[in-house]
Amino acid sequence: MKGVVLAGGTGTRLYPATMACSKQLIPIYDKPMIYYSLAVLMLLGVRDILIISTSKDVPMFKDLLKDGEQFGVHFSYMVQEKPRGIADAFIVGKDFIGTDSVCLILGDNLFYGADFEDSLNKAANFRDGAVIFGYFVKNPKDFGVVEFSKDGKVLSIEEKPKEPKSNFAVPGLYFYDNDVLEIANNIKYSNRGELEITAVNDIYLKREKLRVEVLKDGTAWFDTGTHNDLLSACNFVQSVQTRQRVYIGCLEEIAYKKGFIDKASLLKLAEPMLKTDYGQHILYICEKY
Ligand code: DAU
Repeated sequence: MKGVVLAGGTGTRLYPATMACSKQLIPIYDKPMIYYSLAVLMLLGVRDILIISTSKDVPMFKDLLKDGEQFGVHFSYMVQEKPRGIADAFIVGKDFIGTDSVCLILGDNLFYGADFEDSLNKAANFRDGAVIFGYFVKNPKDFGVVEFSKDGKVLSIEEKPKEPKSNFAVPGLYFYDNDVLEIANNIKYSNRGELEITAVNDIYLKREKLRVEVLKDGTAWFDTGTHNDLLSACNFVQSVQTRQRVYIGCLEEIAYKKGFIDKASLLKLAEPMLKTDYGQHILYICEKY
């Protein structure tokens, strides 16, 4: 399976913070936002990852993340010329995806929870069709919304509906078989002028090939699209990391625990960061595991 992180867009809802710098490069507490999305793909064991961003921001992502060898993975980069919509990731990323299945994650989503890795692995275990998640929220109007029957069958999926049919938002993490390339290529622009990921999911639904995994209670999901969402996510990461001694989105730790890199490489990654709690955490991981 290939991995794609969509990390472009204009970031206007975070102005002026994002006027000169990509939204996905600003930190959620102690690390760049994109680390949290990359962490999800690496937890899944995906090592071939495409990062899509704007022509202005791709050089900055390259500067930060290089080719991924330091984490035992491979990062490719592609430019999305205009923010044409989330489904455009499959038009821009067509050659990278080739004949594989794909996991797409939005570069501004953060997931964390004891059961999250289980949900992730369960979702990734699919042969064909699409798998998305459902997450209970109080403000479904702000998201893609999925409606279920009593026996868990998906009835409808709508993008930011004025009158939501349920409280289950669809987080920005999606699994697709290779048909997604053909589907994304054939959808039409929505009223707001975007190639909507919800339109892609609706086609899978109509083909009876859409599965929804409901994220378990106790799982935290943040879409860090506004200043308040971003602050909540920062506070959350800060308290988990200081109170539980668990790091969220620590790519070095994940790479080591997944066996992508050895202990010597992990120590080398910690060296320039020893003045920070982040660097000290990596040392702790070296000693403990
Ligand atoms: O976060 C989950 C929600 O993400 C879903 O529930 C919605 O169905 C989905 O449409 C999306 O809604 P948002 O309003 O949050 O999408 P936004 O335009 O903020 O874009 C999400 C991320 O994708 C953001 O980091 C920027 C990036 N992006 C977006 C577009 C439209 C791109 O890189 N290129 C694009 O063309």
